[in-house]
Amino acid sequence: MERKSSLEYNEKNHKYNPRHVAIIMDGNGRWANKKGKMRIFGHKEGFKAVKEAIRFSIINDLKILTLYAFSSENWNRPLFEIKSLMELFYYALESEIKNLKKYNIRLKVIGDITYFNKKLQKSIRNAEQITSNNNGLILNIAANYGGRWDIIQSIKKIICKVQKGILNINNIQEKTFSEYLSTSKLLPVDLVIRTGGEKRISNFLLWQIAYSELYFTDVLWPDFNHYVFQQAIDAFISRERRFGGCKKNEKQ
Ligand code: IPE
Ligand code: IPE
Ligand code: MG
Repeated sequence: MERKSSLEYNEKNHKYNPRHVAIIMDGNGRWANKKGKMRIFGHKEGFKAVKEAIRFSIINDLKILTLYAFSSENWNRPLFEIKSLMELFYYALESEIKNLKKYNIRLKVIGDITYFNKKLQKSIRNAEQITSNNNGLILNIAANYGGRWDIIQSIKKIICKVQKGILNINNIQEKTFSEYLSTSKLLPVDLVIRTGGEKRISNFLLWQIAYSELYFTDVLWPDFNHYVFQQAIDAFISRERRFGGCKKNEKQ
């Protein structure tokens, strides 16, 4: 029997699919080392897994895919690895722009990109601008991103508005705050997947994942494929999200 997509499961079980999935793509270095190769080889293979994750997201009608590509702490790595990662990011943007257009994907980079060299910044802005009117999958790439940075940059913008008298301090609600985060205007994160076996958040979206479902897998990122993605989606669908409420149909 043909495997049903998560969308069909959804209709059958009256549960909803994740609309926004965020992935901590971890394990590239270990994947390469296990093969006796340099870590950068794992990052290059990881790029293939990124394309597979995007393909899966489109087929399964996800609205938003947020990928953690480079954290604000990843500057702690050897210079050679950082430079290679930046080159790979640039190459990926330049070579994939045609596919972003073809598949109607809107690209957005979240994180402080001013740390990157001018060439890479230009390539990011160009890809964002060219795809800005696309209305298919929203692809967020978190690059030089930190959840704590995101909260602080949001606070700074809010303080600025308060100082100018545009925003009243008494009107600052949770919703207001969310609007200043780099993920503003996006649907909430339903599901966070982390590959590579570690069970931590590593300064990824902090505020945004207060009620997200978390899914950890030992699969190393270059081995990630549509089967693993589907397993994560199935796990999500089988869970009951209560948001602080009670279990459904429970005797009171
Ligand atoms: C994730 O893989 C990619 C980035 C953080 C850029 P790692 O490079 O962290 O791989 P491991 O965790 O060392 O195996
Ligand atoms: C998290 O992976 C960051 C990205 C996947 C971009 P790390 O490999 O940097 O996380 P830690 O150091 O194991 O927490
Ligand atoms: Mg890692």
